[in-house]
Amino acid sequence: MYDVTVIGSGPGGYVAAIRCAQLGMKTALVEKYNTLGGTCLNVGCIPSKALLDSSEHFHQAKHQFAEHGIEIGEPKINLEQMMSRKDGVVGQTTDGINFLMKKNKVDVFHGFGSFVDKNTIKVTKEGGETEEFKTEKTIIATGSKPIMLPFIEFDKKRVITSTEALQLKEVPKHLVIIGGGVIGLELGSVYARLGAEVTVVEFLDGLIPMMDVTMGKELQRVLKKEGFKFHFKTKVTSVKVEGEEVMIKAEDKKGKELEIKADYCLVAVGRRPYTDKLGLENAGVKVDDRGRVDVNDHLQTSVEGIYAIGDVIKGAMLAHKAEEEGVFVAETIAGQKPHINYKLIPGVVYTWPEVASVGYTEQELKEEGRAFKTGSFPFRASGRARASMDIDGVAKVLADAETDEILGMHIIGPRAADMIAEGVVAMEYRASAEDISRMSHAHPTYTEAIKEACLAATDDRALHI
Ligand code: FAD
Ligand code: NAI
Repeated sequence: MYDVTVIGSGPGGYVAAIRCAQLGMKTALVEKYNTLGGTCLNVGCIPSKALLDSSEHFHQAKHQFAEHGIEIGEPKINLEQMMSRKDGVVGQTTDGINFLMKKNKVDVFHGFGSFVDKNTIKVTKEGGETEEFKTEKTIIATGSKPIMLPFIEFDKKRVITSTEALQLKEVPKHLVIIGGGVIGLELGSVYARLGAEVTVVEFLDGLIPMMDVTMGKELQRVLKKEGFKFHFKTKVTSVKVEGEEVMIKAEDKKGKELEIKADYCLVAVGRRPYTDKLGLENAGVKVDDRGRVDVNDHLQTSVEGIYAIGDVIKGAMLAHKAEEEGVFVAETIAGQKPHINYKLIPGVVYTWPEVASVGYTEQELKEEGRAFKTGSFPFRASGRARASMDIDGVAKVLADAETDEILGMHIIGPRAADMIAEGVVAMEYRASAEDISRMSHAHPTYTEAIKEACLAATDDRALHI
């Protein structure tokens, strides 16, 4: 009998298992694939960032080295080596999870997990043999899968999801991406930098609508400069594979038809919670109208003792959100009173420049009718950014008009993903823009842009613009 069984070994599941074990619970982890780490480590965050880095190096070698005074001739791509390095990074990272499970004495079962009843888990192995065991409590961490549009035939060769896009054997000549969301822009950036023509067909009228309005506009400007073509307010009506070509038909808002020919079509229109064949009905666990496992404020499902975390429940589909929830549930089971501030979970898009955001956006504050002040600082005015030729982007701070408390921080710029941590810390401690304005930021660093944005928000007193 296990105290806790975790189904799914992604960032939500494996972190929950570690924390349960740390708190003295006898813990089992069930994973259907041979490697641990889930979407994030195997076919998500880690491989995409490995390819983003490689492609950024290539882009710099091609477009910036000469200006730095480095002459290397025309750089060439060895895609096989690029993919093999990426696979190596994934391998090292997933091996690390095996080590952590051993270190924490978590029992790992490889096979498909399902509920026989509330306290019995069945594991079906690859060969079909099954094994059952008892558990006191269960954490569902089964994650998500790409949404498949019903009228598109995915042959997984020419019409692909992010999983295949992370292991292509050639650089597409023309990559059409359906969905200008996070996956589309990140993987589109990889192949655009490697020389592909990239066309994005997006249903809405702009990019990254969940982020502050300034971020989407600036990102669109930069990506256009990199060669991206965008068709906004456009709905795809059919995708057909014809030999080595893909024919995409779409219709804009006015009903005008559009035909685009490509050699690859990446469909990235969102992900859906994955609960297929999990036997939720055997345990009595309910899902909501969007197929997500329904949970209360303690992340407990409709059944006492069964919890759910990560992509399979409501909220942002982010690895660090899943991790926080893994720790939260483990501590809740142990009788502690943990807390997650969902408003302060940062979001990042790993294009270059990166986009990172935390707290309220300008649109949200306007909708709420809250009085606020804005301070911005463009990276082109930063000495550090000029030294590295990274002058696109802006740091933007939103603060309460009366109290000066920071309500939101939004950065599009070099290393924004790392810098946003300053905003998270500031907002967790309810700092004011004045507080950050008076803290010393090392010179020259990109973080000076945050300080300058805060100075701009407090009596318009930025020093370097
Ligand atoms: P998952 O990571 O999806 O893990 C679920 C696991 O459960 C899987 O291993 C699955 O095999 C297993 N499983 C499912 N059902 C069963 C079953 N019945 N029995 C046994 N095992 C089962 N997020 C970020 O924060 N930053 C990023 O940079 C980022 N980049 C991404 C890039 C891409 C291309 C993609 C696709 C996603 C990216 N994400 C990123 C999102 C991130 O991967 C997810 O939010 C995160 O993986 C969710 O974690 P999870 O633990 O909920 O589920
Ligand atoms: P997404 O939700 O980010 O974007 C999907 C886009 O497709 C939206 O802009 C939507 O308007 C558009 N769309 C939907 N239906 C369409 C249609 N029929 N035609 C044209 N456009 C259509 O989803 P995406 O990019 O698939 O990513 C899934 C999830 O993975 C995201 O929610 C994100 O949280 C996570 N992720 C996170 C990353 C990160 O943190 N850096 C990186 C990659 C993924």
